[in-house]
Amino acid sequence: MANNELVFPVPDQWKRSAWMDETTYRKAYERSLREPDEFWAEQAQSLNWVQRPTEIRDVSFVPGELRIRWFGDGVLNASVNCVDRHLHDGARPAIIWESDDPAESRTISYAELHADVCRLANGLKALGVDKGDRVMIYLPMVPEAAVAMLACARIGAIHSVVFAGFSPDALAGRIQDCKPRILITADEGVRAGRRLPMKANADQALRQCPGVKTCIVLRRTGAPTSWTEGRDLWYHSLIERQPSSCEPEPMGAEDPLFILYTSGSTGKPKGVLHTTGGYLLAASLTHKFVLDYHPGDVFWCTADIGWVTGHSYIVYGPLANGATTVMFEGVPSHPDSGRFWQVVDKHRVSIFYTSPTAIRSLMRDGELPVRRSSRASLRLLGTVGEPINPEAWLWYYNVVGQARCPIVDTWWQTETGAIVIAPLPGAIATKPGSATLPFFGVEPVIVDEQGHLLEGECEGMLCLRDGGPGMLRTIYRDPGRFLETYFSAFPGLYFTGDGARRDADGYYWITGRVDDVVNVSGHRLGTVEVESALAAHPKVVEAAVVGYPHALKGQGIYAFVTLQGDVQPSAALLRDLEQWVRKEIGPIAVPDAIQWAPNLPKTRSGKIMRRLLRKIAASQASDLGDISTLADASVLDDLVVGHRTIA
Ligand code: WT7
Repeated sequence: MANNELVFPVPDQWKRSAWMDETTYRKAYERSLREPDEFWAEQAQSLNWVQRPTEIRDVSFVPGELRIRWFGDGVLNASVNCVDRHLHDGARPAIIWESDDPAESRTISYAELHADVCRLANGLKALGVDKGDRVMIYLPMVPEAAVAMLACARIGAIHSVVFAGFSPDALAGRIQDCKPRILITADEGVRAGRRLPMKANADQALRQCPGVKTCIVLRRTGAPTSWTEGRDLWYHSLIERQPSSCEPEPMGAEDPLFILYTSGSTGKPKGVLHTTGGYLLAASLTHKFVLDYHPGDVFWCTADIGWVTGHSYIVYGPLANGATTVMFEGVPSHPDSGRFWQVVDKHRVSIFYTSPTAIRSLMRDGELPVRRSSRASLRLLGTVGEPINPEAWLWYYNVVGQARCPIVDTWWQTETGAIVIAPLPGAIATKPGSATLPFFGVEPVIVDEQGHLLEGECEGMLCLRDGGPGMLRTIYRDPGRFLETYFSAFPGLYFTGDGARRDADGYYWITGRVDDVVNVSGHRLGTVEVESALAAHPKVVEAAVVGYPHALKGQGIYAFVTLQGDVQPSAALLRDLEQWVRKEIGPIAVPDAIQWAPNLPKTRSGKIMRRLLRKIAASQASDLGDISTLADASVLDDLVVGHRTIA
């Protein structure tokens, strides 16, 4: 691979305009590890502090002394950093909202954003929300979602955003874990011309969550909605009486900013907790250096606010830098697959950040929808969410970027809070498929199964010796799981759950998850979560779920399902199971393939041998490897015969 690798050097004009060149990057990177206190004290000056930190870094990944603290004695407010400090130029657009309907968009200036955030912050206070209280946000992609996050930050409430595509049950589970006082939702969402019943979903979830006393409802479509007197409250009535200024709460740098639920290798999603100072610095610095934000840029990250990418690169990073951030309600294929590029032209987007899945799906529709736009405003392209195949990288580079925009492939996770491995576009030559080199303060290492550190060119499991100030601080209300999940496999190291290769130039190539997590179209799901959902169906005895290579989605979900003895498999039951998973978790978790499995391959101690199921799902049944620990090898025959090829 190494000798026929493609390398794209930094373009000449970028060498002039960039924040730094390669030598400067390497020096700064070394210094960030060698003299972290000095380095980060300097970087922290890019934020506005009520009280500048003097304690900079206090981090240990060693299980007995596990702690992650940054800027411990600093005091600041995230909403002041994202809004107030840009008010000297208050007419500058903060958010450009592009509706699902191409005829509709809205621009919100920093001055307007300030007033909106303050009104809602005052409204939340009037409802009794205090510092440290949780507020759950279940909203579609509308500016009020960003306003709600910032309003929480202003008064020190901890927000937890739940993706609008999650089902009522999934929402209820998250509410039960983080116990918010308030839920903020909308009457309906709109996507690809269709309406999503958000309030109805919220009602269903709240039936299981009597602790939530108030539900704030944003009017998005004006559709009639059911109403619970005494609990439900219109967003517009709440804010109309509120003053447009609100004293920001001074927050300790280590005070929580938000909780975001993400999937792990066990059934229950975990509440990843991020704090104020370190997270905000990591999000804003990476937005500046990796996504190369310069004043005047129009920045568009196509993620949903319900994922960490939306938190860091629609809201906190860009707004902390005073950028104009585009927020898109719709989907890339509506009304047609040229939509992204029409929006780029319409709002003169200069930096565009999307997922490999989106690129692959657009590739399928050919070059014509792209060529109908000029894209002259674009100067940088980014990707995130999953490994990008070189073919998609090259299409993105040549067709979308007309071979003039560098591509930054950014590797990170909900847990790292911000980008941790990626090229600085003016400094680092890129290779299609590689996230290249670590950001400041990040020390990646590769280990083998036994935890031995591998040197030089190697392949193994990706860990971090340090992840910089954006790292998660804990799993909300479950420090034991925090320790167990990330720090117990390889003591002294944070285990990412990903495999990776390091090449001769020290570049990292992420090979994908090595744990029981699948990455479907950039959405992260625990296979155990899907298994539990399937097993909860009255006709199912047991299910095993694995990921398999899927041309469009990166990975697809393949489920092996064992039915109750008296139940006959049928096409109707198949559809019923799909519906069931949709209801239990949401559309993103619906299996791409379900195979009836009279029995599952198990070890003598009863553990399902997923390794074998992965091979069968990937059509590699001829290469099952060692099956000597299998209790009953004949089980495999049925499964291999029943394998379904679906991609
Ligand atoms: C997992 C984290 C963080 C943004 C969105 C996903 C995969 C993410 C890349 C990339 C290869 C990537 C990893 C990671 N991933 N970016 N550039 N190249 N893989 O956040 O839901 O927490 O998922 O996404 O497997 O562990 P997430």
